[in-house]
Amino acid sequence: MDRHVVVTGCSRGLGLAICQHHVGLGHRVWGISRYKPAWEHPRFIHHAADLTQEASLQQAFVGIKAQAKAIQVLINNAGAARMNYLLVLGKGEVEDSFALNAVAPIACLRVFARLMVGGGGHVVNISSIAAAANFAGTVGYAAAKAALDKVTKLAAMELASYMVMVNGVSLPPMEMGLGEHMREEDRQKGLEKTVLGRSIGLDEVLHCIDFLCAPANTYLSGETLHLGGLV
Ligand SMILES: NC(=O)c1ccc[n+]([C@@H]2O[C@H](COP(=O)([O-])OP(=O)(O)OC[C@H]3O[C@@H](n4cnc5c(N)ncnc54)[C@H](OP(=O)(O)O)[C@@H]3O)[C@@H](O)[C@H]2O)c1
Repeated sequence: MDRHVVVTGCSRGLGLAICQHHVGLGHRVWGISRYKPAWEHPRFIHHAADLTQEASLQQAFVGIKAQAKAIQVLINNAGAARMNYLLVLGKGEVEDSFALNAVAPIACLRVFARLMVGGGGHVVNISSIAAAANFAGTVGYAAAKAALDKVTKLAAMELASYMVMVNGVSLPPMEMGLGEHMREEDRQKGLEKTVLGRSIGLDEVLHCIDFLCAPANTYLSGETLHLGGLV
């Protein structure tokens, strides 16, 4: 089935892997990031945009709307985790974290959900175990991802009548992307908060996203799934 998919944060890490996976499934994929990925495919179109800048996102939206007309899937994946303790945390760091991890997904939902109205669709917000696990030194990131989890619930409620299912996946540490740069002690703390007690593999993340985005998913909405299980 030829589905139209938009993925944010597509230049590297998980976002790039999601784009490659959907292209592999035969879908057409539009990716947004500031920098172009070192990968090309006839069914993949990159739009350069800084998602924290309204005009930049709007430009990408106009371009994608002209090419895609309608979309069926939005993966709000772009994110960044700069960890710092409260007493030394700069106000700018908090603002940057909220701008990318919480405000940008709302802005993307606001515009791209319009391309789902009429035909329905699926949105997946990529969240973090940090939002629910309460680790010291993560307040700027964890609070922004917790806000994203709330966005998932409220957007699902508002978009339900348009048959747009909005869900989230809360990820424990991976061995790629941000996970590669984690301090070992932080990784261990994250893993100890999962039922499974190990990092999640890329295929395991993709499987869960596929499950949420499947056309057959016409009833699961408004949930953030804690992959690995939260203890
Ligand atoms: N990897 C993990 O262990 C882990 C664990 C829990 C949650 N997560 C979540 O998973 C998601 C993907 O993370 P990752 O590990 O793949 O991170 P990553 O490798 O650092 O990739 C982040 C992506 O976000 C894009 N991005 C950053 N700032 C942007 C901006 N202002 N505008 C547009 N795009 C921007 C980057 O592209 P440009 O720099 O080209 O703009 C890049 O493509 C994030 O939401 C993260 O919070 C990851």
